[in-house]
Amino acid sequence: MSPTRTDAPLVLGIETSCDETGVGVVHGHTLLADAVASSVEEHARFGGVVPEVASRAHLEAMVPTVERACETAGIAVGDVDAIAVTSGPGLAGALLVGVAAAKALALSLGKPLYGVNHLASHVAVDQLEHGALPEPCLAMLVSGGHSSILRVADVTGADDGVVPLGATIDDAAGEAFDKVARLLGLPFPGGPHIDRAAREGSITIDFPRGLTSRRDLERHRFDYSFSGLKTAVARWVEARERSGEPVPVADVAASFQEAVCDVLTRKAVDAAADQGIEDILIGGGVAANSRLRVLCEERAAAKGIRVRVPRPGLCTDNGAMVAALGAEMVARGRTPSSYDLPADSSLPVTEVLV
Ligand code: KG4
Ligand code: ZN
Repeated sequence: MSPTRTDAPLVLGIETSCDETGVGVVHGHTLLADAVASSVEEHARFGGVVPEVASRAHLEAMVPTVERACETAGIAVGDVDAIAVTSGPGLAGALLVGVAAAKALALSLGKPLYGVNHLASHVAVDQLEHGALPEPCLAMLVSGGHSSILRVADVTGADDGVVPLGATIDDAAGEAFDKVARLLGLPFPGGPHIDRAAREGSITIDFPRGLTSRRDLERHRFDYSFSGLKTAVARWVEARERSGEPVPVADVAASFQEAVCDVLTRKAVDAAADQGIEDILIGGGVAANSRLRVLCEERAAAKGIRVRVPRPGLCTDNGAMVAALGAEMVARGRTPSSYDLPADSSLPVTEVLV
């Protein structure tokens, strides 16, 4: 963690794009509070996030979570220099709760408001752990909703600072983890359960690696596809069940995880080398995966590329990441958002500040 800079901006960030109500407080690159209220248990029996349930949970959690964050940070909410909020992308109703709360706070306190991109926040959060971002860096963002490779020359998005090099053409990596976990009878969200199960298993099944054939690479060099892999796992498990033999859950988990991590890391390292970039940053919920970290570090090191991964708690959705990006906006003198800031469920990754 970098030392507290007295001139650094004090920013409160609000995140409500999915099922986590996150409120964080940062002082420049220093994390002061990271309060998260999750509605994940309310969605578990549905096997995925139910938007209406998430929105209602955000409404109920918002005020107590803001209070908890300020208490932990040892500040009064009026002390902040700015309010930052996730403006998109995400679930429309869920985003609206955060944006409305942030506007209410900013207007009533007379503070500037920064509506920021959720994906860029997953990149900026690393500054809270490892200090100033190396720019340019190659960001691999892997979450339940996104899998993309970005060239980040300026995390605030100034001068085309965030350029997408590739993305998934179907399922996101986290979505694949969640779907495969479900068919193995593991709870939602599945990523951490597959990660754990895989440690007890061996890589015994050669599952397909999407978009890696020579022909696919011509058009989709840095793109991902996980839906074929998910179907292949489903077919394999079905065949096993039909044969009456038990499904070796740990081996399937390990083999599936290897297929995902192999493609993710291969393409990210290839993209960094192609761009002449020496630092890879992994962000998003799937960055918490233990195999992904190890494999990426191994392959990057072989090419003289460094890898930064924030600790797991900062990889999954939280308010500190939004505050971190907001603080960067203030530090780099970016113009604040208008008080009629929209919530944009399909905000493109290139629009970092709305
Ligand atoms: O970034 P995030 O909290 O929310 C979104 O913006 O989607 O990511 C959630 C995703 C879920 O799909 C979850 O299964 C996955 O991250 N995840 C993991 C692990 N921990 C969370 N996937 C693989 N391994 C993990 N250890
Ligand atoms: Zn996220």
